[in-house]
Amino acid sequence: MRKKIVAGNWKMNKTLAEGLQLVDDILKLSNENDEVIKIIAPPFIHLASVAERVKSVKGFEVAAQDCHQMAKGAFTGEVSAEMVASTGTRYVIIGHSERRTYFGENSKLLAQKVASALANNLIPIFCLGESMEDRNANVHLETVKQQLKDGLFSLLPADFTKVIVAYEPVWAIGTGVTATTHQAQGMHNFIRSEINKKYGKVISENTTILYGGSCNAENAKELFSCLDVDGGLVGGASLKASDFVAIANSF
Ligand code: 13P
Repeated sequence: MRKKIVAGNWKMNKTLAEGLQLVDDILKLSNENDEVIKIIAPPFIHLASVAERVKSVKGFEVAAQDCHQMAKGAFTGEVSAEMVASTGTRYVIIGHSERRTYFGENSKLLAQKVASALANNLIPIFCLGESMEDRNANVHLETVKQQLKDGLFSLLPADFTKVIVAYEPVWAIGTGVTATTHQAQGMHNFIRSEINKKYGKVISENTTILYGGSCNAENAKELFSCLDVDGGLVGGASLKASDFVAIANSF
C-alpha cells in the first residue's frame, strides 16, 4: 500500500548516547500518529536500542542502512538481514549511492541484498538515482530504468509490492542542491510508469516512492506536494530533531 514516509538516514553519525538523545528529542516533538511513518536509520550498533525506544510509539519505525546478502558465515565485520530483523528493525536501506560508490556495490549484489532482506521480512528501501554526468548527457532516465530493472524487476509481484523505492539523484546528496519539483516529479512519474509497465497499474499506484537529496525543513512541503512523491529519505537534516519533525509534518 502506498504510504507517506519520512526516513532519516543518519549515515555514520552519532555515538550511541547522542543517537538515543536524538531519538528522545524527536519523540518529544512528534505527535503520535501513523498517518506519516517516521523511520529512523541509525548505524547498526544503535539498532536494538533505538528499536526498543520506539517500539510502542505509533508511527515510528527503524531501518538499517545496509545488510549483507548472505545468511551467515565467515564475513568479518558484516551484518545479515536476519540479525537486523532480530533487533526489532523492520526496514533496511539497500543500494544507497554511497554504498554503490565507496563500497563498489553493483546491481547483482544489490538484487541479492533485496532478496535476503525480503526473506527475513525486512522491507527494503531501494535507492537509485543518476549522477550529474548522466543528467547532463540526458541519459538519466535510462540510468534509473536500468537500476530499477537490475535491482528489483526480477522480483515476483507479491515481493515487489513490499519494496519502497527512493529516488536520490547523486548530485543532490549532501550538496545543498535539491532537485526542483519539476525534476523530482518528472523522475518519480517515470519510475512509476516503468513499474506500471512491468507490474501493472494497481501495483505501480501502490508503490511508495521517496525523494532524497538535500531535502530539508524549507523545501519538504514543496517536494511532497508533487503527485508522485510520497515522502523523503533525509540525510543531514535528519540529525536535528526539530528539522526531522518539521519535515515529517510537511505533507
Ligand atoms: P542529504 O539529505 O544530506 O542530502 O542526504 C540524502 C541521503 O543520502 C539520504 O539517504
